[in-house]
Amino acid sequence: TKRWNVDTNKEQNERMIIEAANELTSGGTVAFPTETVYGLGADATNEEAVAKIFKAKGRPQDNPLIAHVATKEQLMQLVNDVPAYVDKLIETFSPGPITYVLTSNGTSAANVTAGLSTVGVRIPSHPVALALLRACNTPIAAPSANLSGKPSPTTADHVWEDLAGRINGLVDGGPTGVGVESTVVDCTQDIPIILRPGGISKEELEEVVGTVMVDPALLHADSKEKPKAPGMKYRHYSPDVPMWLVEGGSARLQAVYDELVAEGKQVGILANRNTLEKLEVQQSISLGESLEDVAASLYDGLRKYKQGDVDIILCETYPQIGIGQAIMNRLKKAASRYVEE
Ligand code: TXA
Ligand code: MG
Repeated sequence: TKRWNVDTNKEQNERMIIEAANELTSGGTVAFPTETVYGLGADATNEEAVAKIFKAKGRPQDNPLIAHVATKEQLMQLVNDVPAYVDKLIETFSPGPITYVLTSNGTSAANVTAGLSTVGVRIPSHPVALALLRACNTPIAAPSANLSGKPSPTTADHVWEDLAGRINGLVDGGPTGVGVESTVVDCTQDIPIILRPGGISKEELEEVVGTVMVDPALLHADSKEKPKAPGMKYRHYSPDVPMWLVEGGSARLQAVYDELVAEGKQVGILANRNTLEKLEVQQSISLGESLEDVAASLYDGLRKYKQGDVDIILCETYPQIGIGQAIMNRLKKAASRYVEE
């Protein structure tokens, strides 16, 4: 796996981007930063190249990939029948952390869409991602660049830890910004439906297009409905040691911690700074202050606790407003146990 470090001078950057783009357009796999998480890219029109992504990640074959493009024109080249509200969404949120699920016109390779009649398309806003996509001038299929089941990568080192030796290249552009993946929106119906909460919140979408629905399968943990985004049915984001999600604020967190320590367990805490100030614990990782901070540092926090360091991670819950919806969606998937108040 070749590694390019792009935070040096501009001329070198351009050369590295061109090398990485050549690797992609000749059928290789290259991981690169986006504003959400690192993606593992391959030419979306090349079925053999796309197959390498599934192999490198150990990804289930029935889970479709997002096609990444640099412009609205390129996006339109992949799809049919775009409802009027999609124009508004694109104008407001793209480039940015949102993926549109639209009717595919068959341009993407069959394994990108996992045989579905729809394709997920997104225009990332990260300058390195955009430069790479422009240099490739072909849509790039890219899931998050982690081993299937692990927390998504928000630094190049996370990608390296999971995929070194399994992919052709890695463009290191430093830590990503948003930290949780894009919002996946089904735009094939009269009303947009959120299939995966992410970097753009439901509230933000509603300001632009009015009513927005949420896939009913996401709303209740015990829902028998099948999620419309195939990836949402899998358990994801599993840390190296079990994580319990603890409701009820700092007092409850302290109580659960004390009980586990009394049983002889080594316990690591994941919480924001305010909560940590109220706790008396041995090992903790701060997720920052705001919900935006928590989103940005969540996957790194989950990856930092390794087997041998602690037996169990305790993480607090967050209000499901704004990006809090994406945070709680990911935390519930990562948790092995939900400790109710
Ligand atoms: O922020 C992101 O979206 C990152 C960066 C790299 O762009 N990518 C990402 O990809 O998170 P991935 O493959 O880890 O997640 C894509 C999600 C999966 O849950 C998948 O099932 C869903 O999007 N998806 C993709 N195409 C779809 C389609 N045509 N219909 C329904 N769901 C789709
Ligand atoms: Mg993923």
